[in-house]
Amino acid sequence: MNLSILGIPMDLGAGRRGVDMGPSALRNAHLTRALRDLGHRVTDLGDVRVALPESVDKLEEGGMVFLESILDACQGTRDRLAALPADTFPLTIGGDHSVSMGTVTGNALRGIPGGARMGLIWVDAHTDYNTPGSSPSGNIHGMPVAHLTGLGDPRLTGLGGGWHMRPEDIVMIGIRSVDPHERDLLREAGIKAYTMKDVDQLGITRIHEEMLERLSGTQRLHVSFDADALDPSVCPGVGTPVPGGLTYREGHLLMELLSESGRVTSMDIVEVNPILDTRNQTAEVMVGMAASLLGQRIL
Ligand code: ARG
Ligand code: MN
Ligand code: MN
Ligand code: MN
Repeated sequence: MNLSILGIPMDLGAGRRGVDMGPSALRNAHLTRALRDLGHRVTDLGDVRVALPESVDKLEEGGMVFLESILDACQGTRDRLAALPADTFPLTIGGDHSVSMGTVTGNALRGIPGGARMGLIWVDAHTDYNTPGSSPSGNIHGMPVAHLTGLGDPRLTGLGGGWHMRPEDIVMIGIRSVDPHERDLLREAGIKAYTMKDVDQLGITRIHEEMLERLSGTQRLHVSFDADALDPSVCPGVGTPVPGGLTYREGHLLMELLSESGRVTSMDIVEVNPILDTRNQTAEVMVGMAASLLGQRIL
């Protein structure tokens, strides 16, 4: 397969500094080599331009920290991805999770005017379904899914130029931290979310089957993998750790099954924070997750 790696070194959407170094940490963990070893043709497109927090106003416009600069970076990301050849698999590396407003939109718009019907698998401890009004923090990395479905600030919901995700085409897994009003919004939208309780009770295999069944009507499938979905003992280098996460094997099994399905067309790795990490462990684990999604097998 042709793989295109694109970095988005941005931490403007997160409450703590450091995930802007995620792309470097992942490249240092030999991302390209791991994927070439699987037989893929890998092109690293470098990084999208992102403003420095020191150089721009933090001004919290309507409850959103660094809105303008995040919008710029998401537009840049969207345009780079939308312009890629149709036969390439984009692997986008963040950066905080607000980058996914740009990645999902760009991947949906690639080669299809008006945008593809996109399935979204959101692997995360958090649902990231806050709007500016419901967010307790004002941090935009807690808001990308809401904006992808058209809910929230018009500048961010407008990234798709009229294209939006259908809530029924979104499936979340690994969930264990949801803000009070965010929970109401998620329920109203009808988004399917597998919590850690569901993972405990049903197991990854059953969830994977249900997930693909639910998303069978979509044209493309994007996996957005927040490193904090995995347990903090596996991925300590994240800004918003929550205990009780996916084990190392649960993460790999999910990626292996999705890989076997042959349905996934793009992926994000986000929220890797090398400042908070232990000897780049989190980046190394996440390179392994990408490798499993892209064909690595035990035998
Ligand atoms: N729900 C919290 C908030 O809105 C935390 C979000 C964390 N999101 C993330 N991508 N790590 O601020
Ligand atoms: Mn997230
Ligand atoms: Mn998260
Ligand atoms: Mn809109």
